[in-house]
Amino acid sequence: MTFPLVSVEEVWFRYDDGPPALRGVSLEIRRGEWVAILGCNGSGKSTLVKHFNGLLKPWRGRVLVEGVDTRRRQVGEWARLIAYLPQHPDRIIFSASVREEVAFAPRLQGVSGVELERRVDTALEALGLQDSAELPPAALGHGLRRKVALAAVLAQEPALLILDEPTNGLDAGSARDFLEVVAQRHRQGTAVVLITHDLELAAQYAGRAVLMQAGEVVADGPTRTVLGEAALLRKAGLESLPVTETAHALREAGLAGMRTDLLLPEEFAEAYLAAAGGGRDGR
Ligand SMILES: Nc1ncnc2c1ncn2[C@@H]1O[C@H](COP(=O)(O)OP(=O)(O)OP(=O)(O)O)[C@@H](O)[C@H]1O
Ligand SMILES: [Mg+2]
Repeated sequence: MTFPLVSVEEVWFRYDDGPPALRGVSLEIRRGEWVAILGCNGSGKSTLVKHFNGLLKPWRGRVLVEGVDTRRRQVGEWARLIAYLPQHPDRIIFSASVREEVAFAPRLQGVSGVELERRVDTALEALGLQDSAELPPAALGHGLRRKVALAAVLAQEPALLILDEPTNGLDAGSARDFLEVVAQRHRQGTAVVLITHDLELAAQYAGRAVLMQAGEVVADGPTRTVLGEAALLRKAGLESLPVTETAHALREAGLAGMRTDLLLPEEFAEAYLAAAGGGRDGR
């Protein structure tokens, strides 16, 4: 029997004596998936993914990684399978060079010699960081530091890559470049969990979306279905994509045949032309 990579079963969690930050969450992450985790500030996204590699342990319920309870292993033992890019990666400013930073995690896993060099070079190259390899990360600007942080988790060559709002503070072009590197790894079979506030990025890259609200999963399914749930999104404190909103508005304004399960501008254009009668050749 093959286990899911991560299996979260009825997990409750709270920090110290605070209110529950997770309230009975259940979900599975399977090999090769790309899952977006959506939700407003404080809804429990980061708390949830920190359970995937045992950084946090459930207060009630359990989390299994490839069938093994995270309580039964040390955090570091999951590094071979799961790489986690935290929301605020701060440690990297202590490394002497970009190359050292990228080598850090695989070295902890016991990777050395030619294999270590291969992994570090591959990761640096994927992000175009070859020329910055000998620089101290602390000297780099925000965008480059984000790239170094991504290179460092890529070098772990994990089965699951967890990225907690990795494109925060990046301009739209840099964010897309960044996710293209992740997409390349995904095509090679790596599963991705992406926490993001950017529904367009989720629409573009993730096949599945999980919507969180106040420590609970309120929707989990194909990204198209979840992002189409305008009322649910609003209740969770998020706004639907402009494309979806406009499609709904057109339908309400009387364009009866207008589809509303649209995420991307090109899909919108096609659906609009079809609904407005006759499509491209119907003038
Ligand atoms: N280290 C901590 N100590 C105490 N409470 C915490 C801690 N980290 C998070 N919380 C609380 O747990 C709840 C969930 O927080 P979490 O950081 O998981 O949310 P999030 O969805 O990742 O939010 P954001 O979008 O702002 O990153 C919030 O009420 C938050 O205040
Ligand atoms: Mg967070």
